[in-house]
Amino acid sequence: MNDFRAEPPELQDAMLDAVRRVLESGCYVLGREVEAFEHQWASACGVKHAVGVGNGMDAIEIALRMLDIGPGDEVITTPMTAFATVLAILRSGAIPVLADIDPETALLAPESVARCLSSRTRAVALVHLYGQVRRMDDWTSFCEEHGILLIEDCAQAHLATWRDRVAGGFGAAGAYSFYPTKNLGAAGDAGMLVTHDEALARRARYLRNYGETERYHHLEVGLNSRLDEIQAAMLTERLKWLPAFTARRRHIAGVYRAEIYNPQVRQLADPEEPSSHVYHLFVITSDRRDALQEHLQGHEVQTLTHYPIPAHLQKPCLDMRRDSAGLAHSERHAATCLSLPCHPQMSDKDVERVVAAVNSFQG
Ligand SMILES: Cc1ncc(COP(=O)(O)O)c(C=O)c1O
Repeated sequence: MNDFRAEPPELQDAMLDAVRRVLESGCYVLGREVEAFEHQWASACGVKHAVGVGNGMDAIEIALRMLDIGPGDEVITTPMTAFATVLAILRSGAIPVLADIDPETALLAPESVARCLSSRTRAVALVHLYGQVRRMDDWTSFCEEHGILLIEDCAQAHLATWRDRVAGGFGAAGAYSFYPTKNLGAAGDAGMLVTHDEALARRARYLRNYGETERYHHLEVGLNSRLDEIQAAMLTERLKWLPAFTARRRHIAGVYRAEIYNPQVRQLADPEEPSSHVYHLFVITSDRRDALQEHLQGHEVQTLTHYPIPAHLQKPCLDMRRDSAGLAHSERHAATCLSLPCHPQMSDKDVERVVAAVNSFQG
């Protein structure tokens, strides 16, 4: 599903130079590299502020806490996400409420979110699953209408744009993960929170660093969630390659969309516009998912499922509040989804091999 060793030698050299640059600087945590990468990322996202943190999950928790969302407050999100989304809400002290997905896209379904609203709802944590950004005008007006905040989980949607605006800048805050397998990945854990609001960004900077406002003065109970210099320096180098890598992902997805044809296989809806999907994952569904996965394995095509167990079926969430109409679409998606390889290091031959293997499945 990924092949870091096949990355261009120029990129590998640039990453090694970045590490050397940091080691020679003698400054390893929250220094010039972090600041420089924060500026670049804020500008790439079209927001005023970016705050580097330890990982994507902390970015969501810190976003909630900087917005004063915590104990007693409800945050509506999807069960079809990395568990980290739900866990971040729990860690902020707030109460996750799970809404169902639209089966055509696997993204949150607005009518289900509407059923989950209560007097305690403070926010929707909208996950741009698989790299798709959709219907953002509907989401911003829905949140405005109900007096709640929009928080975007952009961990899978690096620089996806919707009507020329970049993921992360639509609501009160956006949270990015730079986990190694993400479209922009570090060589370890890293994350970033983005916001247009200066006061919120200042609070996020305190929160990521023990709640410290000035040396040895702790205004509130913070975290230790700092982005380190080596990761920031490497991300600066990797960011230069992101547009080409995203273009390659889109090309591969285009081939899959055009050439995969098998009555046993369904594709998700096309993106609303080409730039609104960055194909962190290319996901298909099949009622014969497990047999298809085995067939592909037999043809040396690796696949994964994102996600085999929706959040509400995970042990800590069994009693979690959810859409009163149930979460049937999420459960069905979990039982049928399959992620095909879709990464920038795949050759055209690799892509054709995947297409041929999927098309030859007979169920
Ligand atoms: C949708 C989503 N949200 C949050 C996260 C958490 O990011 P991290 O692993 O950097 O904490 C991930 C990464 O797995 C993710 O895919």
